[in-house]
Amino acid sequence: MEYLLRTERLSKVYPNGTLANRQVDFSVAQGEILGLVGENGAGKSTLMKLLYGEEAPSSGAIYLNGKAVTFSSSQDAIAAGIGMVHQHFMLVPSLSLAKTWYWDRSHARAEAGSSTWKTRWP
Ligand SMILES: Nc1ncnc2c1ncn2[C@@H]1O[C@H](COP(=O)(O)OP(=O)(O)O)[C@@H](O)[C@H]1O
Ligand SMILES: [Mg+2]
Repeated sequence: MEYLLRTERLSKVYPNGTLANRQVDFSVAQGEILGLVGENGAGKSTLMKLLYGEEAPSSGAIYLNGKAVTFSSSQDAIAAGIGMVHQHFMLVPSLSLAKTWYWDRSHARAEAGSSTWKTRWP
């Protein structure tokens, strides 16, 4: 089976030596909705940050549509079609989830010099 997104032995060691993800094999198919469960500090956010280009893996690989990808920033992940809605304390309270995600994307575009969400939100 071809997964939409897959990781292979993905590991992350933070600069202070914390091993946040150890050899994670994770996969999600097109149309599949997955919940990732684990106690505080288990490494859930770190894994999402690796998939979103917010942190760089220490080792291992990410495959998108079967092709190995390397994200050097969230811009790269967004360009590849990967979005992320952060935890509640990073959200904009007055916006819906969809608008928050859209705002995040547009914000990234604005930082790259193109647009703002106000001009692009339908
Ligand atoms: N920027 C960071 N620098 C160093 N250690 C971190 C950093 N972010 C997270 N950690 C550590 O990595 C581990 C996994 O954290 P995290 O991915 O936030 O887990 P979860 O989202 O499952 O609660 C924890 O031990 C946490 O303290
Ligand atoms: Mg977390």
